[in-house]
Amino acid sequence: MKVEDFDMFCTLLKQRSGLVLTKDKAYLLESRLMPVARKWNLKGLDELAQVVRTRKDEELLRDITEAMTTNESSFFRDQKPFDQFKAVVLPALLATRQNKKHIRIWSAACSSGQEAYSLAMVLNEEGARLAGWRIEIIGTDLSSEMVAKAKAGVYTQFEVQRGLPITYLVKYFNQMGDKWQLKDEFRSRAQFREYNLLSDLSPLGQFDVIFCRNVLIYFDQPTKTKVLEAMAKMLPPDGVLYLGGAETVLGITEKFKPMDGQRGLYTLSGVPAKV
Ligand SMILES: C[S@@+](CC[C@H](N)C(=O)[O-])C[C@H]1O[C@@H](n2cnc3c(N)ncnc32)[C@H](O)[C@@H]1O
Repeated sequence: MKVEDFDMFCTLLKQRSGLVLTKDKAYLLESRLMPVARKWNLKGLDELAQVVRTRKDEELLRDITEAMTTNESSFFRDQKPFDQFKAVVLPALLATRQNKKHIRIWSAACSSGQEAYSLAMVLNEEGARLAGWRIEIIGTDLSSEMVAKAKAGVYTQFEVQRGLPITYLVKYFNQMGDKWQLKDEFRSRAQFREYNLLSDLSPLGQFDVIFCRNVLIYFDQPTKTKVLEAMAKMLPPDGVLYLGGAETVLGITEKFKPMDGQRGLYTLSGVPAKV
């Protein structure tokens, strides 16, 4: 790929999704953009770059941006965050939200929905304890393809084998040929919509818990700061932010501080942690 084309794609991706690509990742551009070139009947990446420059077609730019996202996810990914949710975060929310009996949880950059549905399963396992509570789980992602997949709730054998206890597979899914679909009544426990983390996040409203895992790693430091500081405004004083295992707020923003003894969990700075 020509250097000027690589630079042009990098600028485009940084603006549209926050993704920062270094030169050693040029192979990723080539492997992921070739299918886009084929879809648009273009001979290769030279021609793709030329069409991007001349036509500025929104649908094409979208295809390029989505093709470059890494959508890796799994049910109960890393397990510990879900154990912490059940043992630490949820009991505190149930105690402090007793009057309004309403909890909002955001799976930001939810990919194909496994994180949101894993939370729905944890909550469902609470049974009668949550009777009368309204619990909203909202998953958002930049990728329209991933959002459609999350809404459909259909997963391959490989996807359900990763992290999902067999008892949950039997309880929450129906087999459809060689795939598995979440049962209808359960699928409605989570809502999904397209949303770019670089845009104004305030229309999404306030949340009690935000899961923002394994997406900030793709952004540069100013973008991480911007996203985290916007999220800080969307949490109440006792709200909780989850980051991925390779992510931190340290050196990025002062708005959050790590929760004592709870790796990967953060609360707003200056607020004594109740959870
Ligand atoms: C590696 S997945 C993480 C999925 C899930 N949070 C997890 O930890 O399993 C990263 C997701 O971030 C999404 N993403 C990347 N940039 C984004 C942006 N600017 N706004 C919203 N989603 C974005 C991608 O489409 C992808 O689905």
